[in-house]
Amino acid sequence: MTAPAPPASGVAVPKVPRWQSLLRSVSLAKDPIAVISATMARYGDTVQLYIGGMQKSILTQDPGLMQHILQKNHRNYAKSQFTQGFSRYVGHGLLTNEGADWLRQRRLIQPGFHRQRVAGLTGLMQEIVADTLAPLTARAQASGGAVTIQTHELMTQLTFRVIARSVFSTNFSDAELDRVAGLITEIQAFYTGTIRQPYLKPWHQLSGRFRYHDQLTADLRALLGGYIAQRRAANDAPGAPAPPDDLLQMLLDVRYEDTGEPMTPDQVLDEALILLIAGHETSANALTWLSYLLAHHPAEAEAIRAETAAVLASRPPEKAADRFAFEELPRLSRALHAVQEAMRLFPPAWMVDRVALADDDYQGMHIPKGTLFSLYIYGLHHAPKHWEQPASFRPARFAPAPGSMGPPAYLPFGGGPRLCIGMQFALTEMQLVTLELLRQFRVEWVDGQPPVATQPLITLRPRGDFQVRLRLR
Ligand code: HEM
Repeated sequence: MTAPAPPASGVAVPKVPRWQSLLRSVSLAKDPIAVISATMARYGDTVQLYIGGMQKSILTQDPGLMQHILQKNHRNYAKSQFTQGFSRYVGHGLLTNEGADWLRQRRLIQPGFHRQRVAGLTGLMQEIVADTLAPLTARAQASGGAVTIQTHELMTQLTFRVIARSVFSTNFSDAELDRVAGLITEIQAFYTGTIRQPYLKPWHQLSGRFRYHDQLTADLRALLGGYIAQRRAANDAPGAPAPPDDLLQMLLDVRYEDTGEPMTPDQVLDEALILLIAGHETSANALTWLSYLLAHHPAEAEAIRAETAAVLASRPPEKAADRFAFEELPRLSRALHAVQEAMRLFPPAWMVDRVALADDDYQGMHIPKGTLFSLYIYGLHHAPKHWEQPASFRPARFAPAPGSMGPPAYLPFGGGPRLCIGMQFALTEMQLVTLELLRQFRVEWVDGQPPVATQPLITLRPRGDFQVRLRLR
């Protein structure tokens, strides 16, 4: 991140009165982005309000304040009770962990996501993309050259396969895959609901909905715990073959520098679960929105395809025609720029939360200990002061100008020490999916569908699903 200019108006943070927040809490639950963006447009880049009419919070899309919280003074900011509450359902992996324990885990796991490690996963990623697209190609061939798909469903299936096999190698059966993905979605939807409408908590308590979701969590952990136990048993078996080179094996093999000990089985489960959760939903949403955008901007899709064709044509003839090498990806940058632009318009992590651990000060604004911050990434990515024609889909804005530092107001993967550990993994995966999808198909919008609305849960997905038509080239 580059340092943005200080805000012109100094100290006082405008306040949305509590009664107004409360009045809006129903429309907030229905369409959070519209309500929040309207609030920011009215009050400015930083505003104090009451989430769900109850929880006082500072909402900001000021890049300077975001940088202060995520990077410059990050030690003073922990994830808030919202994220910590999520650990009731997903355990204490990297995403939900805090403090010294988090740092220890991050140092341990970080090497597993280095560039070279991700480069080693590109073959697997492309295999899964090919396997997922093959039945669609067959269906299109059998029905006049095109097939209509449910976009979010397909992208969720695809990205879940990629992360599940990157972590567990195993080919989950379709039924197991659906079960795990379904459990994660249901738990996440419930948890987000409890945050957005906290006044419903007594009702959830009475109706047994907390108990029900705790049970879903237990089912999910039992399912994954079973896979991990199978791996341990396979590793320990006499004469066992070399274990697969996947992320689970990395979690089992790593040792703490100070003690030389491995992680406990519970920690391995927590970290594996967090990778599954953080590592598929986000990429699925980004690819879903990208498909939506490409279907509406065929010229952009065509430009990506043309670049791909040129790179493929320039290869030595002995090279496999149907696989992209990791080293080729920088020359296929149009696909990457389209992915980046899709995440600007629809950032999967649309809001990031933090709480101040001690009193602080940002450019004259006093921040008392305990202040809750909601960093509004969606607002940052749409602010006209940072982006020319912010509502337009223009991937070329991500083509680096000579000497440029890159867009200053762009944080799809967060920032500072808690920057997404899977960033390189995700960018590579999404670039490969885009390249392969467009190499095989034209993506067309299916007319007659209702307008596509956003549904911001923990991540930003479309409300319901929508269809696109994949037409064979
Ligand atoms: C489009 C895809 C993705 C997006 C937009 C995304 C976004 C983010 C963001 C914004 C954060 C920081 C949250 C915060 O500061 O509160 C984060 C953290 C994290 N992400 Fe991602 N992510 C993506 C893909 C992935 C993938 C593929 C993986 C795993 C393979 C992953 C694993 C994680 C983990 C473990 C953390 C916690 C890191 C820590 O706190 O040390 N993410 N991600």
